[in-house]
Amino acid sequence: MNERFVVGNWKLNKTCQEARDLLAQLKSARVFADVRLRCVVAPPATALFASAQVLQDSPIMLCAQNINATDAGAFTGEVSGPLVYEAGAHFVLVGHSERRSLFAEDDAAVAQKLAAAAKAGLTPILCIGETTEQRRNNQTRSTVQQQLRAGAAAYLAAHMGPLVVAYEPVWAIGTGATAAPADAQAVHEVLQETLTALGPQGAPRVPLLYGGSVTAANAASFVAQNNIDGVLVGGASLSAESFVAIAQAVCPP
Ligand code: PGA
Repeated sequence: MNERFVVGNWKLNKTCQEARDLLAQLKSARVFADVRLRCVVAPPATALFASAQVLQDSPIMLCAQNINATDAGAFTGEVSGPLVYEAGAHFVLVGHSERRSLFAEDDAAVAQKLAAAAKAGLTPILCIGETTEQRRNNQTRSTVQQQLRAGAAAYLAAHMGPLVVAYEPVWAIGTGATAAPADAQAVHEVLQETLTALGPQGAPRVPLLYGGSVTAANAASFVAQNNIDGVLVGGASLSAESFVAIAQAVCPP
């Protein structure tokens, strides 16, 4: 079994105290000590430092939800790679569909953020996925290929660092509807082919995650597919009970 990922994206939820409480519960769950499992959680930026303190002696790693492509300067309200790295993050989500649709991030911005992440020592988790309309128009394959190429080509060509890719159909995020595992697998095959064509010889394998309404009830069916290395979880990562159950489904004893 390849290393499996379970990533929790808390979005705009959790105060510092709530983050400490949730992480204290996660820390005591035995599943996260399994060396086959890479657990990553993405609190809001304000709770990264408090979270890092709780996780000092834990294999659970921290992820920022966003960074600016610039390290420092006159960008009111933004955070940068060096700032979140110092606060304790080792990963960063880049190109999440909410950033693309609500904050007008395009593929060019996504590519710049990937480079900024690598420069700061962060592993980017590049999120891609088609909208309902693109799906209806049979554009799933071309959409994810375009997003992956636009985001990852320069990154991989320049050997910038490790990369994780999450396929998250936009219509499945926060809706309770998920891709059928076989359909997700088919998209992951396209991603794998695209990466193979892009990647320099000998590049380490890029873990491919599925996201969109993942729960404890459906997580196992995704990682049972050949090319799905783990899950990116939103709503169901907000309680210890459901996140631990998802981790157990992803990495059974
Ligand atoms: P969801 O969110 O699990 O609540 O659908 C997933 C995500 O936005 O990454």
